[in-house]
Formats: sequence, structure tokens, C-alpha cells
Amino acid sequence: MNEKKQIDLENKTILVTGSPGFIGANLVMRLLHVMDSGSVISFDNMNAYYDPALKEYRLSKIEEEAATVANQAARDGTSCPKHVFIQGDLSDRAAVDKAFAQWQPDIVINLAAQAGVRYSIDHPQTYIQSNIMGFMNVLEACRNHPVEHLVYASSSSVYGNNNATPFSTEDKTDTPVSLYAATKKSNELLAYSYAKLYNIPCTGLRFFTVYGPAGRPDMFYYSATEKLLRGDSIKLFNYGNCARDFTYVDDIVEGILRIMQGAPKQEDGLDGLPIAPFALYNIGAGAPVDLMGFVQILQEELVGAELLPADYDFQAHQELVPMQPGDVAVTYADTKALEADFGYAPSTGLREGLRRFVAWYKEWQYHFR
Ligand SMILES: NC(=O)c1ccc[n+]([C@@H]2O[C@H](COP(=O)([O-])OP(=O)(O)OC[C@H]3O[C@@H](n4cnc5c(N)ncnc54)[C@H](O)[C@@H]3O)[C@@H](O)[C@H]2O)c1
Repeated sequence: MNEKKQIDLENKTILVTGSPGFIGANLVMRLLHVMDSGSVISFDNMNAYYDPALKEYRLSKIEEEAATVANQAARDGTSCPKHVFIQGDLSDRAAVDKAFAQWQPDIVINLAAQAGVRYSIDHPQTYIQSNIMGFMNVLEACRNHPVEHLVYASSSSVYGNNNATPFSTEDKTDTPVSLYAATKKSNELLAYSYAKLYNIPCTGLRFFTVYGPAGRPDMFYYSATEKLLRGDSIKLFNYGNCARDFTYVDDIVEGILRIMQGAPKQEDGLDGLPIAPFALYNIGAGAPVDLMGFVQILQEELVGAELLPADYDFQAHQELVPMQPGDVAVTYADTKALEADFGYAPSTGLREGLRRFVAWYKEWQYHFR
């Protein structure tokens, strides 16, 4: 059990970068729901890595939630949190500094990044700009405008081709197999140095394949759904011999919500200098599912939701192909530390999670497109 300083959310200003991205939007909506006061600031450049209409849609959902909460508070005569959206780029140092100077956040959740393993093969500079330069600007801003806790997204990809399962934060992670993974590992190292030098409480979160409603179109469950609906074939990499620790987005949000309120303790060592207030956690389901099993459930849910007919020939729409550069065969989270320190482990089953994704997709498909 690592010692934590408990942070109360009352009257706090929380800056969430990467909202209205997938995880960020879900986190912000949850924060607006659970907080009684204070401010939630979203910061995102709304880039077009995938359809920005989806980011606009998530932003509209955040604004709906903020309005609902405000109306309820007005009826009850109580206070409520407010939401502010800033469109800005993390690699723009002045824009980041301005947001910190204006809002003086107590807690920062850095989720903004160029995500995706495959895209990093052809677009390496984007990763350096957003994930390295951008993250440096966040660290510098936290140094210049002290925060109670900086929480940032790392990734299960830092484990590379780790052979020991489940993946523990004690395992070695110095052989990334993609540039994306290398930038996420770099974030952990940069954060450690700032925690040590400037006594900034920092927690890195290694997320494992996050899925759910209004998710990312570049991820397998989403692109496979689109392909099957169009009548195209889906590619099963490594001839289908892959397993992923699929984690439902609400479970990720619950993990972030708990962890952000427990900052690593600040204390000095025998040399009179700070012991780095630094922690790392895996947030994953802890139950890897093989790709063929995953596809089977997705297909059943697409038929169940009447998006595809019961006699759809799935076999004819599958292509077994070799492993792609940058990919790993297995991911599997060890969540013992999360359970020990925060009494929490993800619990949403894959079928339930995919059912919610498919239900959302159906609505998105027919009402928003
Ligand atoms: N979804 C997953 O399975 C998963 C797994 C591991 C780690 N992560 C990490 O979690 C975080 C959130 O992921 P997500 O799935 O919500 O991705 P996402 O792409 O939906 O959200 C990221 C957001 O960051 C914004 N962004 C990117 N570069 C920016 C920049 N330079 N300045 C400002 N905004 C910028 C994008 O516009 C986007 O809205 C990312 O850091 C990602 O690397 C995600």
C-alpha cells in the first residue's frame, strides 16, 4: 500500500486535457455528475485524426450534462460545477501556460495525446509534437503553477512483448515496439524527473484497450463494426492469435476518479531532498480475451441489435493476416496495486460492454449521421 494524500473535490478546479476525446469526455461527464462545486476545464485541439464530428458530438453531450446539473442545482438552491472548453494545442507552450495561469487547476488529468500504434509508423512527428513536446509543456506548467496532483495517461503498450503475464508495473518496460509506446514510456520518465526535482505529485495510468459507446473509430471493435456493416472484410492480425485485455470505458473513468483523489505523498528523504511523489498503475480488466472470441461476441451483438441479419456470412468477411509492425500479441493487466491502494478493479463484462457500444452505434448511425 503506497501512502496517499486524500484530495477532496470540493471547490476544486480540474483541468482535463484530451476532452472531448473518448476517455476525456466520459471522465468530464462523470466529474460534472459527482462534483458539487468547482470547475472542470476541457482542453483539446479537436484534431482530425478521426472524424471531428465525433468530438463535437461528445462535446455536446458534456454541455448537456453541464446544463442538466446546473438546472438541478437551480431547482435545489445548491451549487454545481461549471464546465469550460478551451480549444488549444498542448504543443503551444503559450496556450498551455495561459490556461494554467487563468484557471490555476488543482488537479490536472492529461489525456490529450496522439493515440494509436499503427498511425505512429507513418506519422512519427505528430507523436513527438503532441506526446513529448505537449507533455513537457504540461509538466512545465505544473512546475510554474503548482498543482495538488498530475495524473496522466500512459499505456499498456509500454510493456512491449513482455512475456511475463499478467503485466505488472514492476516489470521492465524499456523495449517499446512502437514509437507510440516509446512516447508513453518517455512520459513516465519525464514525469518522474519532475516529481523528483519539483516535488509534483504525479501518477501515470497504463490503460488497457479501452472500448465503449462513442469510442475511437480507429480501434478494432469500432472499425470492424463499420466494415461488417458496409459488407467489407475484417482483418484478423497474427492469423487471429492475439489477446487483448479489453477494458470498458466506465471502468477506466472509475479508476481515474479514485486515483485522482489519492496523490502520492510528498516527503523528503534523508538527504533533505524530495522523494519523488510518483506512482504508476495499470487500469485493465485483468481478463484477456482472444481475438476470435471477441469477434464472435461482437458479431452476436450486431445481430442481436438487428444491425446485421441472423444469416450474415461472417466467415466470408474475415481475413487472417500476419502480425503488423508495432503490434503485440497479448496484453494482460495485473491490477493488484490498484485493488490494494484504491479498493477497485474493473468489472464490466465484455458482452455487456459491447452490447452498450453496439446500442450506441445504432443510434449514432441512424440519428446523427
Ligand atoms: N483508448 C485506449 O484504448 C487507450 C489505451 C491506452 C492509452 N490511451 C491513452 O489515453 C488517452 C486518451 O485516449 P482516447 O482513447 O480518449 O483518445 P482520443 O484520441 O479520443 O483522445 C485524445 C484527445 O487528445 C486530443 N489531442 C491530441 N493531440 C493534442 C494536442 N497536441 N493538443 C491538444 N489536444 C490534443 C485529440 O483531439 C483527442 O480529442 C491518450 O493519451 C491515449 O494515448 C488510450
